[in-house]
Amino acid sequence: MASLLTSTLALTYFFIMYSSFLRRTNGVFSEELSEAITLKRMEKTTRLHFFFHDIHSGKSPTAIKIAGTSDSSLFGDTYMMDNALTESQNGSSKSVGKAQGMYAFAAKNEPALLMVVNYEFTRGEFNGSSISVLGRNPVMDDVREMPIVGGSGRFRYANGYALAHTVWFDLKTGDAIVEYNVYVKHY
Ligand SMILES: *[C@@H]1O[C@H](CO)[C@@H](O)[C@H](O)[C@H]1NC(C)=O
Ligand SMILES: *[C@@H]1O[C@H](CO)[C@@H](O)[C@H](O)[C@H]1NC(C)=O
Repeated sequence: MASLLTSTLALTYFFIMYSSFLRRTNGVFSEELSEAITLKRMEKTTRLHFFFHDIHSGKSPTAIKIAGTSDSSLFGDTYMMDNALTESQNGSSKSVGKAQGMYAFAAKNEPALLMVVNYEFTRGEFNGSSISVLGRNPVMDDVREMPIVGGSGRFRYANGYALAHTVWFDLKTGDAIVEYNVYVKHY
């Protein structure tokens, strides 16, 4: 009698657990959600083109050294920037945003930078949106490719790549103008 009761209870328990397990595995909550998102949001690719002004000279430099050694080696030198982004190479041309972040000389034997930078845009439909770049920038190369690791606003869920090409460099001051072609995928 007792064993019948025990086995009935065990069987009931098993069915309750089994049905809740079924409900859980059959629950398509996350699948439905991702399907709905896929249907509603179309992935786009946007190309951005702008010029980056890395200014160390003058009364109001936009890039300043914040760390590094005093010896002649560049290795370890770290800069903080709030660099202007403009529509054309002329620094007085229309502003499209700012590059805010850091770069550091991360290679012992060549001028290769670690870039950790947010590009914030202030024009048109991308006003207030930003992309985040984390990458390697060997500055002597003609074209450097850096990954876009994320974004905000219109660039939420962003990924893609940035191609940087130096168009002007002043060896004395370190001032530089860099042309950017950015390909960013987002929703
Ligand atoms: C840059 O633009 C300003 C204002 O539009 C102009 O006065 C200046 O000559 C331009 N500079 C160059 C190098 O084209
Ligand atoms: C960008 O957005 C800011 C804040 O919303 C606004 O003040 C500014 O006028 C906008 N700029 C452009 C060019 O739309």
